[in-house]
Order: sequence, then structure tokens, then C-alpha cells
Amino acid sequence: MNLVKSGSVVSVLVGSVLLVPLLLLAYSQCIWIIQIIRLIQQHWVISSFLCLSIYLVHWLFLVPLDLNKKVEDVGWKYLPSGKLKAQEVNRIRKYREIGDTPPSYPNGWFGIVESRNLNRGQVLHVVALGCNFAVYRGMSGKAYISDAYCPHLGANLAVGGRVREDCIQCPYHNWTFKGETGECTSISYSKGSIPKNSKLKTYKTVERNGFIYVWFHADQELPDWTPPEEAKVSEYAYRGRTEYYVNCNAQDMSENPADNGHLNFVHDTAVFAGGEPSQIIEDWLAGVAKHELAAAWRQGKLKHTAVSTIVVNMDLFKGSGMLKSLTKVVLILKQIGPSCVHIDIETAFGKGIMIIQNIPVEPMLQKVVHTMYTERKWIQPLAKLFLYLESLQMERDIRIWNSKKYLSNPVLVKEDSSLLHHRRWFSQFYSEGSYRQKNPGNLDW
Ligand code: FES
Ligand SMILES: [Fe+2]
Repeated sequence: MNLVKSGSVVSVLVGSVLLVPLLLLAYSQCIWIIQIIRLIQQHWVISSFLCLSIYLVHWLFLVPLDLNKKVEDVGWKYLPSGKLKAQEVNRIRKYREIGDTPPSYPNGWFGIVESRNLNRGQVLHVVALGCNFAVYRGMSGKAYISDAYCPHLGANLAVGGRVREDCIQCPYHNWTFKGETGECTSISYSKGSIPKNSKLKTYKTVERNGFIYVWFHADQELPDWTPPEEAKVSEYAYRGRTEYYVNCNAQDMSENPADNGHLNFVHDTAVFAGGEPSQIIEDWLAGVAKHELAAAWRQGKLKHTAVSTIVVNMDLFKGSGMLKSLTKVVLILKQIGPSCVHIDIETAFGKGIMIIQNIPVEPMLQKVVHTMYTERKWIQPLAKLFLYLESLQMERDIRIWNSKKYLSNPVLVKEDSSLLHHRRWFSQFYSEGSYRQKNPGNLDW
């Protein structure tokens, strides 16, 4: 008893001795903080400027670009802005004539989730391609994709489901399914054997280039190709991403690199004019700075691939030839299947690569994600600016895609021939069971 008492006296003494320097330290720190607050109060203009500069430098040099735009954000400049704009956009979408569009969901690999958005043990619900997917990462780090609905009583595995090792456990009655095969491994409350038809539907999944891909086929055929690994993605520095929602059929966007005719009309105005330049700005800028684009589209060596080379030059002051080599950009677009595009970028500042995924989330709604990586010698602000300017160029296409009608028998001229080659090439991604949407607009009286 005495020993205990003397022990506690010693610890109180030691504690007090240690407490004194700690209190002194805290006091000195408080004085520092108070002095800083006083300085800020006295020189608030300089202080605010300093804080803003620190934030800006941090954002410019250390934070990759992350741009997210909803369907009502691009291509509707002609509508009055304000609270009702989104409502009006939806009304226009509802009554739009979509034309005789191709099927809504082509067959192929689709990068439906960005790797950085899925941690070990995490599960996400993804609605795309007319399916509900549960996308999760097992504790081994491997990503799995299965049907979201449990074969027991239909609970959504991605809403409250738990990842156990490399299995997914249903949030309703705890049935557990293997990530790889979907086989049911445990029904904790049942003493009987596991029913044979308790298998969860799983999808072929691969993860590469910063995306988790699902294999989708309307007639359940197995993949005969896989998305290629791009070594540059791991060699280069990550510079950011952009995300857009576009109101069109999946094939509309894929046609863009084969549509040579639009390049020098949609994309010629200097990109600094923004995604939806007005006619006044377009006309005024035409004599100052103008992009000149030349493109060639061809089918690739592998039947599911296509290649398009686009050379972009900047014409300053009508043929002055100023800064020609500095502003030249060469883009090699590799279309891989129906939804994925890899763009090799060459500029005076260095090389880069862009990985693009076009994900059909609804028959007439595509999610488009661009991620960009560049050689480390590109400084971050310049690389971010490039990605941002590229997104403005895409906004010019989005303005058209959002409102156009698909014509399966268009009136073409000789110079449009690559469009037809592209359509023939793309038709390989449809099969008998491919879902085709009827025109949802109802303009008949
Ligand atoms: S609904 Fe999934 S275990 Fe019952
Ligand atoms: Fe375009």
C-alpha cells in the first residue's frame, strides 16, 4: 500500500517537473501566434495578398486539374441562365429528335471507374451500359465487378455491402460471394448446404492506365481483345482529369476524329476564345490567331483499333508565320474498341499522353473522362493549361453533339468518305442483342 502511495508521489513530482517546460513552451508559442495575429490585423492587405499567392502557387504547381461539368453546363449558352436553365435543358432533351441512332451500348471494354476512386475494401455502385454494377477492390488490391443485385433477395451489394478478403458480402442477410467467380462461399445463418443457383453474376475486369474496365457484351460473348497497357502512364507525371456528361449516342463521339470536315470550322477559332465563342469573337479573332487542323483517319492493324493523326498549327496574324514551331501540336489518336482513346501528344514543350473513356451511362448520355500525363519537364501549370484548353476544344464538339440528330443515311461529299469508313469499322461493336433506343421525343399530335 505504502509502495503504491510513494510510487504515485514520485510520478506526480516527475509530471510536475515535465509540465513546467511544456507550459513555458506553450506560452512562448502563444506569444508567437498572438504576434502573427497582430501583424495580420495591422497589415491585412499584404497578408491577404500573401495568403492568396501561397494558395495560387500551391494550386498551380502541386494540384492536378480536376474539372467536372454536368450535362446542362455546356452547349446551352443560347438559353437564359438562372435557376430554370437545368429544367429547360431537360425539357429540350426529352423532346429532342434523336434520329435513327445506332444501338445504345456497343460491345467492348469500358473504363467505368478511375482507379484512384476505389480503395481497398471499398465498393461503388455504377449504372452504365444498361446495367447496375457493384465495383469493389478486394483486400489483395484486385478490383472486381459483379452485378449489383444479390441472387438471394435482390439487395444492392454496392449499397452497404462489405468487402471481406476478396469477396463481397451482402448487406441484407450476409451471404458472401467470391470476387473472381461469384460463387457463394457462406450463408452464416444456414445449417444446410449452399444452393447451386446462388451464384452472383460477375464481369470480366481488368485494371490498367488508371481505369478499371468492365467487359460488356449484349450477347454474352467473351472478350477477344484487352485494352493495352500504356507504359507512359507510369513513366510520366499525372496532370489531371476532366469529366463531362454529353447528351448523344455513343457512336456520335467516336466519329469525331474521322470527321475531317468539321475540324476547320468547329476547332479553328483560337482556343482562348473558350468553348462556345460568339460569332463576333470568332470573326474578330480570325485575323489575329486561328488554328489550322489537318487529319487522317485509318483503321488500325488490329481490327478493333483505328488511328487518326491530327496536326494543329497556329496561324498568327494571317500567315505571319510567328511562333509556328512553338505552337505546333501533333496528336496521334488511337481508338481502342468503342469507348477508349489514347492520344500521344507532341508539343514544343515535350510529350504527353491522354487516356479517354467514353462511358454510355444512358442511351443518350455519355460520361467522358480525360486523364493526362506528361513528361516531367513540362511544368505543372503549363500541362494543366494544355488539358484545360483541350477541354475547351471538346466543349465545341459537345455543343454540336448535345443537340444533333443522328442520320444513318447522311448526304455526304467525297471529302467526308472517312466518316463512312468509320461507321463500317464501328459496326463490329454491335451484335444481335444490342439494345436500340426508340426516339423518346413525342412531337406527334
Ligand atoms: S438479399 Fe443478399 S443475402 Fe439476402
Ligand atoms: Fe471535334
